[in-house]
Amino acid sequence: MRVLVVGSGGREHALCWALAASPLLTKLFCAPGNPGTAKLAENVPIGVLDIAALVAFARDNEIDLVVPGPEAPLVAGIADAMGLAGIACCGPSAAAARLEGSKSFTKEICDAAGIPTALWERFDDPHAAREFVRRRGAPIVIKADGLAAGKGVVVAASVAEADDAIADFMEHRKLGEAGTSVVIEECLVGDEISLFALCDGTNALPLGAAQDHKRVGEGDTGPNTGGMGAYSPPPALSPALEADAMARIIRPALAELAKQGTPFRGILFAGLMLTADGVKLIEFNVRFGDPEAECLLPRLQSDLLPALMAACDGELADFSLVWRPVAALTVVLAARGYPGTPEKHAPIGSLSDAEAVPGALVFQSGTEVLGGALVSLGGRVLAITGTGSDLDAARKAAYAAARRVAAPALFYRRDIGWRALGK
Ligand code: AMP
Ligand code: GLY
Repeated sequence: MRVLVVGSGGREHALCWALAASPLLTKLFCAPGNPGTAKLAENVPIGVLDIAALVAFARDNEIDLVVPGPEAPLVAGIADAMGLAGIACCGPSAAAARLEGSKSFTKEICDAAGIPTALWERFDDPHAAREFVRRRGAPIVIKADGLAAGKGVVVAASVAEADDAIADFMEHRKLGEAGTSVVIEECLVGDEISLFALCDGTNALPLGAAQDHKRVGEGDTGPNTGGMGAYSPPPALSPALEADAMARIIRPALAELAKQGTPFRGILFAGLMLTADGVKLIEFNVRFGDPEAECLLPRLQSDLLPALMAACDGELADFSLVWRPVAALTVVLAARGYPGTPEKHAPIGSLSDAEAVPGALVFQSGTEVLGGALVSLGGRVLAITGTGSDLDAARKAAYAAARRVAAPALFYRRDIGWRALGK
């Protein structure tokens, strides 16, 4: 089979890595890819939002399956466009991708399907929003309704902080149109877990769970990032809680979307909070997580390619996945300055020493080759995964490899896994 992965981050490198191991694969492309994917796939210089060019490429190159990594092309309709061209695409239609593109759409699905989630209200008027905050008190969560690349959520510890977020989103339009309206939510407390399910429109197959580390600083401090590390499986999510989340969150969402005429195909990512009051949904995403994919895919023993195909074909009912009996832990190496203004074009040096650590895998995110040398592009640069018989062994492998990367312009958190392992 001929497969096209769309994206250029560590998640897409991990997807390419998993797909490259499939005996069914005959040719792998990645658009636009990065120097890491170039080792496994042929990189194609087409941007993730150039959907017409991606469709033309897929048609001209007889692609059997398109695998979009990030949300932006899904929200922009890549799955619909590939579908019209008769090309299988493992991702939701633009209509179903509103689960990630619009917070209020997700909340309406939750209400219609009885999915446990934080109490919420949507506001188009900043005065009404401020009044609501005064009535509810802090802590309280303010969310821009539209897609905001992870910058649209403020967990406000005080009413003043909530007021500032409302002003920033709705009046100063810091996030542009994404903040025209806001969703204001009750603040949930508990362990946060990312749960993934592969969906075919009707059936959902668990695709593993991980705990992400969103804050930039050790001990979960400082500003939010795309994710500084992850581990899997997370001991906090027992098999019983996972089954509960599949039954009360993932499957009802799938059924409700199908009922509304917008069935969900692809990878559904539920951001869960394990509250004292049971599992609740924080948000849905319509794709794999990054760095969760880098940590989950190395644990998957089954061939990923036929599973993604079965999701496209509506044939997951009789499908099952086998996991390797290992734990995995991923450490993200980011450019100094991230998530503010990261340094660019710092030399990274050779990765072969890090790759030689037993049980370690080095995935590239923000890298490029300049004058024959690997340099950083800013942001998250590398995702290094260690695998081992348990989380502690996985952590040792990941950090042993991270220490071997000779790149003083990169930094990483030294406490990934602390909630499960201690510091
Ligand atoms: P998002 O950008 O939507 O992933 O949200 C960023 C982070 O905000 C989440 O990962 C949570 O840690 C936090 N968050 C979002 N909604 C809530 C909520 N209702 N209660 C507590 N924390 C929340
Ligand atoms: N790591 C969280 C995300 O991919 O959204």
